[in-house]
Amino acid sequence: MSEKIENLLKEDRKFKPSDVLSSNANATNEWFEKANKDRLDFWKEQALNRITWFKEPTEVLDDSNPPFFKWFKDGELNLSYNCLDRHLETDSDRVAFYWEGEPGDTQVITYRDLYERVCKLSNALKKLNVKKGDRVAIYLGMTPEIVVSMLACARIGAVHSVVFGGFSSEALADRINDAEAKLVITADGAWRRGEIVPLKANVDGSLKLTNYIENVIVVKRTQHEINMEFGRDHWYHELTENEEAVCKPEIMNAEDMLYILYTSGTTAKPKGIVHTQAGYLTGVATTHYEVFDIKENDIYWCAADCGWVTGHSYIVYGPLSNKTTSVMYEGAPNAPDEKRLWSIIEKYKVNIFYTAPTAIRAFMKWGIEHPQAHDLSSLRLLGTVGEPINPEAWVWYHKYIGGEKCAIVDTWWQTETGSIMISPLPGVTSTKPGSACGALPGIESLIIDNEGNPVGKGEGGFLAIKSPWPSMLRTVYGDDQRYIDTYWSQHEGLYFAGDGAKYDEEGYIWLLGRVDDVMNVSGHRISTAEVESALVSHEKVAEAAVIGRKDEITGEAIAAFVSLIGTEKGDENLIKELRQHVSDKIGPIAKPKSIVITPDLPKTRSGKIMRRLLKDISEERKLGDVTTLANADIVSELQNRATQTDDE
Ligand code: WTA
Repeated sequence: MSEKIENLLKEDRKFKPSDVLSSNANATNEWFEKANKDRLDFWKEQALNRITWFKEPTEVLDDSNPPFFKWFKDGELNLSYNCLDRHLETDSDRVAFYWEGEPGDTQVITYRDLYERVCKLSNALKKLNVKKGDRVAIYLGMTPEIVVSMLACARIGAVHSVVFGGFSSEALADRINDAEAKLVITADGAWRRGEIVPLKANVDGSLKLTNYIENVIVVKRTQHEINMEFGRDHWYHELTENEEAVCKPEIMNAEDMLYILYTSGTTAKPKGIVHTQAGYLTGVATTHYEVFDIKENDIYWCAADCGWVTGHSYIVYGPLSNKTTSVMYEGAPNAPDEKRLWSIIEKYKVNIFYTAPTAIRAFMKWGIEHPQAHDLSSLRLLGTVGEPINPEAWVWYHKYIGGEKCAIVDTWWQTETGSIMISPLPGVTSTKPGSACGALPGIESLIIDNEGNPVGKGEGGFLAIKSPWPSMLRTVYGDDQRYIDTYWSQHEGLYFAGDGAKYDEEGYIWLLGRVDDVMNVSGHRISTAEVESALVSHEKVAEAAVIGRKDEITGEAIAAFVSLIGTEKGDENLIKELRQHVSDKIGPIAKPKSIVITPDLPKTRSGKIMRRLLKDISEERKLGDVTTLANADIVSELQNRATQTDDE
């Protein structure tokens, strides 16, 4: 049996950086040269240049007790100070956020405004007995208060644990209990496609399952009737209105905890990923500057949610420490219609736009008439994150959103890594659709086989990181052993990312999905991502999910689920055509045994396809937990279809 992941999909298209881009780029080839010469020196220089320290560190990396690494450990700083105070002298009127509410209301928030809001909330938190090191849960929609809350915690040295507003009461309670959070900041509700997400009611539900919470702060947003318990629940506006707009930032040690962010692992219990202060800020500020090539007057839009790490690193800490002007949008991309994002780009003349492949595939499905109805010519650079991007989706993004003139950065990283690890540098790297290209300066990635040996060009295996990096996770909250077991126990001295990856003949890195998304068909490992890309490259296919289901003969058989573009209808002939198409693109071995055509795919609320669920459906098992599913209706529909469509 082959130990390596088969390298099947070939992509020959290549896009050079434009002359304009490369001649003005923030990061040049020199960055690689510097980092290759002396990695620690490179990071030290970034840390000293990008951070305003209360006390500069004298040591870069303490690796005396692996995998518990410490960065800049005797340095002192405050992240809220770095994101706000230090910009005020010269740039207090600069806009930090152009905020767009889903219903159409807007706010223009300058750095001075943001500073004052953060100070007021910081003072209010202190009065509610929140002290340095205490954990605060934040359960809000994408209103400015989510940013203010994160920064207020950072200012007073409290540890924030943002819980995505799409999670249930139970999920929130689990996270509160694990972190032993003493206060939660929430809102009456959040707007989502014109409907109210009942945040406060969910908090009430979770408080029945936890005893840690002493106070609840409630932002008024949707204005509907909610339950307020006297003494415990406080309106945000009442609590903050009379507070002073000044609050001295707490002096934090470089390795004090900044936040916990929960992420799912292979067991049902979510892992609390722990990030600390200085290394994290070094990582996000550096990568935000080099990968997005951010310039003084750019309008930047990371269309993520602060409930995920992308929002933490590339809406809050990276951009604000770099004094960036951002757009922030509260709602769904199709509210009130599918033109919403493009109208926002036109309105604010956005230059840099960062989103996820799942969103891009939705845009493809909705049709090009929506972006074409707006002037997107202000765009200069596009980014993606979260999953492998299918080459066809990349090319579509390039053509219809980027007008064939924007650089695209496909950025690979994880909640655990804190900041971008593998990505093109827009002024340096020639990109290939679907490839995240290579590790950034100061990052040492490699691809290994089962035994931990590095694989060569043209070969696949498991993605690993060789040396510690500043923004790495420090542990799993309250569970050092799980930190060791999950990330550092596969091969001596290597961080195991849990993703499959391959090098092409030129040494470009291609991500192949989570390792458990790798199928084994007749002794060959095949990436679900590659088969999906082949399917999506068919003109009628909008989105595809592929899983390996148990098969008596081949070990696993490839089962595909596809949704079609626009009003296309599928039939037996199309299914035949698609199987042949995959066979043509990759080889007969990758031909799906069954293809189910479906109007939609089951997704988590963060937009990731739930392959585990599709596997259960295909193997006709009792379904596992579907509580995090965004579109639960699709499951029974799929169960009906899946049983009718075996092709062989
Ligand atoms: C996947 C999101 C391919 C990968 C920042 C990783 C990607 C997981 C990419 C982390 C990319 C993220 N290409 N796959 N550009 N970016 N992933 O923790 O499987 O929500 O391990 O962090 O997303 O997801 P997380």
